[in-house]
Amino acid sequence: MTQEDRPEGMRATVQETYGPADLSAVPVFAGGFINFGYWRPEDLDGPPTVEDRIRTQQDLYRRVLDTSGPLSGARVLEVGCGLGLGCALALEEYGPDLVTGMDIHPQQLDRARRANAGLLEGAGAGRLRLVRGAAERMPFEDAEFDCVYSVEAAQHFDDLGLFAAETARVLRPGGRTAVTSFFAPDPGAAPRLAELLDTFADGLDIARPPAELTDALVRSGMADVRCESIGPSVWPGWDHWLSAQWKPGTWPRNFLYAWEQGLLDYYVITAVRPR
Ligand SMILES: C[S@@+](CC[C@H](N)C(=O)[O-])C[C@H]1O[C@@H](n2cnc3c(N)ncnc32)[C@H](O)[C@@H]1O
Repeated sequence: MTQEDRPEGMRATVQETYGPADLSAVPVFAGGFINFGYWRPEDLDGPPTVEDRIRTQQDLYRRVLDTSGPLSGARVLEVGCGLGLGCALALEEYGPDLVTGMDIHPQQLDRARRANAGLLEGAGAGRLRLVRGAAERMPFEDAEFDCVYSVEAAQHFDDLGLFAAETARVLRPGGRTAVTSFFAPDPGAAPRLAELLDTFADGLDIARPPAELTDALVRSGMADVRCESIGPSVWPGWDHWLSAQWKPGTWPRNFLYAWEQGLLDYYVITAVRPR
């Protein structure tokens, strides 16, 4: 894919990272997931195996899906689904009728179709859809979903206001959203984060306070908007895993340092569309 045929609305860093560079193939992620993981205290006792690491990424999905209300029989949308393995987990463990995985990147969707070929063509065919679309302009009807969730993708979204408005629009009254990602609690942290972390310096990750999303959800008419830090279950475990391969002071070990300095944290943000 060249610069010229980059889909409208996709930044060059997003195109490169999830296209030719294929972040899912970088060993620090593992198993086709691309998130920092949700770690239990006992995970920090010894060196994690690759299987442990994959489980932490699945557990981040479980942490989000557990807060999304009962999903049995539901129509569910994942925004920024990557390789769609979280969609498969949702289908297998939470019993929704239909999971739609949406991602902005066509190459991610190609990978997702390969990774989920069994589900797309097998006995469960029809329960998983993979669709190209942006968080800020979702290609869906009003009130199409009972639940909209997103795992470690919102740090890339250009416009959290449009994402919140689209989430409210595609949810049915009474539907729920749950979003997990990292945000910068200190609004003045952006220059320091850019010094510490290449992915903020090159514009892949955008430094914004979580209130930018929670306020936008309120403005979009969502109710019961909540924001909970899960940093203690993310950053120390992520750094523990990295320590086998990366020296202190390198990307991505500066994520832990940034959290310790109060520059960055990891959150679960939830809200309900009023009936
Ligand atoms: C860090 S990966 C996370 C993938 C997956 N949720 C996981 O945890 O394995 C972020 C994903 O968000 C997608 N993405 C980035 N910006 C997006 C946008 N504006 N709308 C939809 N997807 C986007 C990327 O293409 C990428 O697949």
